[in-house]
Amino acid sequence: MSETAKLILEGQEHEVPVVTGTENEKAIDITKLRAQTGYITLDVGYKNTGATTSSITYLDGENGILQYRGYPIEQLADRSSFIEVAYLLIHGELPTQTQLDQFSNTIKMHTLVHEDMKKFFDGYPSKSHPMGQLASMVTALSAYYPESLNPNRPEEDVDLTIVRLLAKMPTLVSWIYKKSVGHPVIYPTNNLDYVSNFMKMTFGHRTEEYSVDPVVVDAMNKLLILHADHEQNCSASTVRIVGSSQANLFASISAGISALWGPLHGGANQAVIEMLENIKQDGGNIQKWMDKAKDKNDPFRLMGFGHRVYKNFAPRAKIIKKSADDVLSKLGVNDPVLDIAKEIERIALEDQYFVDRKLYPNVDFYSGIIYRALGFPTDMFTVLFALGRLPGWISQWKEMREEGQPIGRPRQIFTGETKRDYVSIEQR
Ligand code: SDX
Repeated sequence: MSETAKLILEGQEHEVPVVTGTENEKAIDITKLRAQTGYITLDVGYKNTGATTSSITYLDGENGILQYRGYPIEQLADRSSFIEVAYLLIHGELPTQTQLDQFSNTIKMHTLVHEDMKKFFDGYPSKSHPMGQLASMVTALSAYYPESLNPNRPEEDVDLTIVRLLAKMPTLVSWIYKKSVGHPVIYPTNNLDYVSNFMKMTFGHRTEEYSVDPVVVDAMNKLLILHADHEQNCSASTVRIVGSSQANLFASISAGISALWGPLHGGANQAVIEMLENIKQDGGNIQKWMDKAKDKNDPFRLMGFGHRVYKNFAPRAKIIKKSADDVLSKLGVNDPVLDIAKEIERIALEDQYFVDRKLYPNVDFYSGIIYRALGFPTDMFTVLFALGRLPGWISQWKEMREEGQPIGRPRQIFTGETKRDYVSIEQR
């Protein structure tokens, strides 16, 4: 006997089904609520609303659990590679060696970006924000692959579009960086692994041999794995809703990049470093900034703190915090803002305001410190988040398309003026 919930509306009792997930999460299924009762639900910001069922990523915010396709993030961060995690998210299972080699080699055959796309880069001011460039470059890819425009085309077209996105995103991100420093672009080296190739395209020079540091590659793999998916976050929900109109995958991913740009979402990793730098410039008076963060009349928020789902120490933040110490000591980097970050965390974890609101460091609080130690400028941090999140967005889009989900179109409750007649301008 399946579980149900009872609603009593205007004296009438209605029964609605209850959905239970594999991790025993419960939801009231309101799919037929309006037809049954004439009522809709209201949940601004979707804090209590499930948009879909999904088998990709599981989060438990109370217990600090994050799993991709059932595998704990701690194990994947320690033992897997980003390209293997991309395969897992998109195809649902860990690949065999043959499958992984085939996936990786197919991607290597598509790493070049059409030379004509360089003209788009030429049109951008050199200091324009990398996220704006990346969003438009990903949409521009659809111009070169007209077969990608109809997502209902045969399987192989969608799979090829997925490969092209995974293959070309590192090239695009590295070219955006090269443009920002006025250096010539470096073309892909296809005998390198995914992350090594990206690091060489970004920090290599045409005239000198670039030797990839295994410490850097390991740190980058870990960061990309930790960012790879996070269920129905703002940008993944954007990718799903854009894709639900049957817009092509390039357009859906470009929309996700734009949603990630916001400082409340992926843009937080840039905002955290800017905040830490401000505190350092301001003489390191941490308590002053903590008080500002708690002041309702002050728009300042403690960037990198708080999360819609995690109400406990976020698993990714724990891993990144440890990695920050490892990477900086291995690279011999001493970054004073790391000490400020740790002191902020220590104070916040004892401060009633943050404790009452269950505000803990999130994935963005420490990631920027590592990106900076690896040589990336601050305004590149969010495109690095997008590079990591790409396989997650693709897997969410693919799941939504394969399930034939309907176009996303929420309802509303109207609270404006009721019907009134037009009045000529002379009478106003
Ligand atoms: C990411 O969703 C995901 O999964 C996202 C992400 C992913 O992998 O995709 O995890 C990546 O986006 C991480 C979050 C990065 N953003 C930031 O670090 C920006 C700072 N954080 C906040 O703006 C905020 O915590 C959010 C946006 C992350 C969550 O906001 P919610 O869930 O809408 O919570 P809220 O704003 O309603 O806050 C609840 C209370 C409020 O106080 P009261 O009104 O109850 O008195 O907590 C306060 C807020 O004022 N609060 C903060 C705070 N975050 C929340 N106060 C000070 N500093 C903060 N950072």
